[in-house]
Amino acid sequence: MRILVCKNYDEMSKKAAQMILSQVTLKPNSVLGLATGSTPIGMYKELVKMYNEKLIDFSEVSTFNLDEYYNLPKTSDQSYDYFMRVNLFNHINVKNENIHIPNGMASNVELECETYDKQIKESGGVDIQVLGIGHNAHIGFNEPTINFERGTHLVDLKESTIEANARFFEKIEDVPKKAITMGTGSIFKARKIMLLACGDSKADAIYNTVYGKVIPEVPASILQFHNDIVLILDEAAASKL
Ligand code: GLP
Repeated sequence: MRILVCKNYDEMSKKAAQMILSQVTLKPNSVLGLATGSTPIGMYKELVKMYNEKLIDFSEVSTFNLDEYYNLPKTSDQSYDYFMRVNLFNHINVKNENIHIPNGMASNVELECETYDKQIKESGGVDIQVLGIGHNAHIGFNEPTINFERGTHLVDLKESTIEANARFFEKIEDVPKKAITMGTGSIFKARKIMLLACGDSKADAIYNTVYGKVIPEVPASILQFHNDIVLILDEAAASKL
């Protein structure tokens, strides 16, 4: 694991955007694995800035998002589909047909998950996967559990995750209880992984990810085995290392 400690959120966001810029410059048809949550918003802002300055071209890029809430229409301003369009896709030249986000409204969830995994495979696989991390070290929506899940699947969200995400909803009852997420296995298959974290509330999760036992109760701990991973942290998230 490489660990890059940045002074603050802005520096973390810039470093992360530069890594995407290098990836897309070297391979214009890169497959990007993308994440939601508040942490990568600054990186997306930087990427939009780079696009406006004509430093980066997304016309051949494909994207696969990690996850989506179950049973929440895309049009909801809390869906991850909506989040991605508002924070990134509406501002860059990625082609609509190259954008992939699990369909949380699919009537046949099993088929949706299988199709998503097949699409990732057919795209040639994810070149660089962006990750945030939950307070309980979840990645995507892979919550602490008793086994690492391989592929895309439906999960029950933990109470603590529902509480953490309630800040984006009017009331906690509105937060979906389930989500469709890429598995830890799918995440692990990415050629490169870049995990972003900021703030002291993530310091324990980062400590456990780096130094803890590799166990499914700490989903991000599996990343210790990946051969091309960088953690881009602000000083607070890195404070327990
Ligand atoms: C959600 C997302 C994760 C994200 C996490 C942390 O659970 N599914 O992908 O990493 O939130 O979010 P934040 O960056 O807002 O702390």
